Amino acid sequence: MWKKFRVAAVAATAIASLVLAGCGNGGGAGASGESYTIKVALNQTETHPSFIALDSFAKKLKEDTGGRWNLQVYPNSQLGDQKEYLQSVSTGVYDMAVVSAPQLENLNKDFVIFSLPKVFDSIDHQMKVLSDKNVVGDVYKSLETSNNITVVGGLTQGARSVYTKDKIANTPADLAGKKIRVQESPVFLSMVKALGASPTPMAYSEVYTGLQSGVIDGAENNEISYATQKHYEVAKYFSYSRHLIGADFLIINTKTLNKMSSEDRAAFDKGWDATWKQHTELWKTDTEKAIKTATDGGAKFQEVDVDAYAKALEPLQNEFLKTEPQKALLEKIKATK
Ligand code: GCU
Repeated sequence: MWKKFRVAAVAATAIASLVLAGCGNGGGAGASGESYTIKVALNQTETHPSFIALDSFAKKLKEDTGGRWNLQVYPNSQLGDQKEYLQSVSTGVYDMAVVSAPQLENLNKDFVIFSLPKVFDSIDHQMKVLSDKNVVGDVYKSLETSNNITVVGGLTQGARSVYTKDKIANTPADLAGKKIRVQESPVFLSMVKALGASPTPMAYSEVYTGLQSGVIDGAENNEISYATQKHYEVAKYFSYSRHLIGADFLIINTKTLNKMSSEDRAAFDKGWDATWKQHTELWKTDTEKAIKTATDGGAKFQEVDVDAYAKALEPLQNEFLKTEPQKALLEKIKATK
């Protein structure tokens, strides 16, 4: 039923885009009072910082472009799962989406850096890196020719930790043989294997039922996802492994971005700047709220042996960082203070 609805939503979106194209929007919004609505696909709830910040972006962009450019955010995976977002943004079924770094790793291996342990010292360090065009400018543009996708910028996912159905996992040894859900990418598969568990790739929207039915024994994510997706109802042991600080990226169809006049593009860039900053602030306050919500719902949060997790994951750097461009990017990240 849910799947059917999603397919219908995607089809409706495709038709809407075609109608727009047929209206001669190709010259760009703005000429003779035309306006363009960008659909933004998001797999989070309306209470998640990403929805709240993008919704503010929508209001600001509309105001600052005199209504020429509008954003409409579709939360709750209404437009499908992240794997589909890449294809849909690339072909223009809809124009924008938030995707996790591992999805982009599937298109350009340089993106793997943003999913490796110990790359970022803190959320503030991460956001300095992700907003510095001298560091990430080339990688953000790297998919334009091949995929017609531009990365607008990054959003933090905070530190990711493991949570399970049966008990706290003090060290990776407690995860031995357990089926742990991972995002669909090579680095996440290797990560969970390195912890001694069995990785099960699965879309974010399927994790709740996966946990409930026992298809998986656990997953890994930040506190805000754990709470907003209500995973604590079905996996109450949250072990603070803090194995990496994850990143999301806002992506846009390159041709659509290039339709903006320079004035509208400046408004877009300014709006985005305010958006990621609001998101980072919200992240900090909402993490506290998420812990409270989950605890009230029966979750148990516990500090665990982070060093044991870090040690188990050390081999990932050598396994995934092989090329000169990857190493150069890592150096620039490390030099960002
Ligand atoms: C986080 C992240 C999402 C991602 C999800 C996942 O919530 O912000 O972009 O899809 O983790 O584990 O799939």
